[in-house]
Amino acid sequence: VPDDIHINSHKGKYSVIFENNSLDILRNESKENSIYIIDKNISKLYKSELRSIIESKKCLIIEASESNKSLDKFPSYTKSLIDLGIKRNQTLVSIGGGIIQDISCFLASTLMRGLQWIFYPTTLLAQSDSCIGSKSSINSGDLKNILGTFNPPKRVILDTNFLETLKKEDIYSGIGEMIKVHAIDSLDSFKRISNDYEKILLESSSMAFYIHESLLMKKKLIEIDEFDEGPRNVMNYGHSFGHAIESATNYSIPHGIAVTIGMDMANFVAAELNISTSYHFDRMHEVLDKNCSNFRNIEINVELLMNALYKDKKNTKNQLRLIFPDNEGQIMIDLYDKTPELQKGIANYLNLYQV
Ligand SMILES: NC(=O)c1ccc[n+]([C@@H]2O[C@H](COP(=O)([O-])OP(=O)(O)OC[C@H]3O[C@@H](n4cnc5c(N)ncnc54)[C@H](O)[C@@H]3O)[C@@H](O)[C@H]2O)c1
Ligand SMILES: [Zn+2]
Repeated sequence: VPDDIHINSHKGKYSVIFENNSLDILRNESKENSIYIIDKNISKLYKSELRSIIESKKCLIIEASESNKSLDKFPSYTKSLIDLGIKRNQTLVSIGGGIIQDISCFLASTLMRGLQWIFYPTTLLAQSDSCIGSKSSINSGDLKNILGTFNPPKRVILDTNFLETLKKEDIYSGIGEMIKVHAIDSLDSFKRISNDYEKILLESSSMAFYIHESLLMKKKLIEIDEFDEGPRNVMNYGHSFGHAIESATNYSIPHGIAVTIGMDMANFVAAELNISTSYHFDRMHEVLDKNCSNFRNIEINVELLMNALYKDKKNTKNQLRLIFPDNEGQIMIDLYDKTPELQKGIANYLNLYQV
């Protein structure tokens, strides 16, 4: 197993602990001071391993859906946790992917003005990306991720064995985020993960290595800018376009795959607008294209995409905040005007590569 990772945050240091037998730990630990929030699929797939928790009457099971991380669901979570007898000195133990993480983190921030929480990430996206960085994001009405807090867990227990039951598309989704942080880190880091793309899919040791690498790369950014006021912004590479793609397709493309298409689109548009050169599009296209190949047959309507892009919460009143490679291939954030050329670049990309 990879070395543990220690992260500095505004709430002190916390660690990502790589574990091979987290289910044994969960089964055997004292449940006295814990209340559990568990992903519904995890509670079914690991029913016998988690039996002692599920039957402990200290456990809230939630289905991982976007509507379940909506603000209007929180009165019911609050009531359930109070009915389970949760007290301020207890720890919320959260087991699941990014959705369960967001729900748990938000509850841990707000319930009784704050509780300790521990996170067991079970999806590749949560293990390689979202489990560190302190953020919770909650939906309100049809506004996605519009409410949130910064509240790191006390500890992250990372067990890659969970990935064995994950759907293939959720593997690609997580790999999308891993490629992203490697692209931000350096041209060499990007090249290395691209060369090992097939190996990651086949060998669990290679997968674990790149999860660890991805977290170390993210650690550098969140430690200098935990509150996302500057350098950390580049972690949104592929995300302005990615979120717009998710919105334009009614969320039929998993997040990290929409981000993969979003990076490829950003690189293409950057070359068309002379922000970068086609060298960087070409350099990154092969692996990005591989990672989203199962979702190229979904139509993305350019008007819907532009509407969503213009509503991005990172924009200023008149300009779009977008992230592109520069001439050297370094990933940079800047403000851009809403020009017809931008829309044309996006439309050209969709004509060439989507459907
Ligand atoms: N707070 C953050 O920093 C942050 C960062 C990125 C993404 N997010 C949020 O995370 C969410 C996406 O997270 P996600 O991709 O982890 O998806 P998810 O939590 O929706 O999980 C995806 C699917 O996998 C299932 N699942 C989870 N673990 C499994 C396992 N081990 N085996 C089999 N099935 C399993 C879930 O039940 C679900 O059906 C989005 O809502 C996104 O906004 C948050
Ligand atoms: Zn993301």
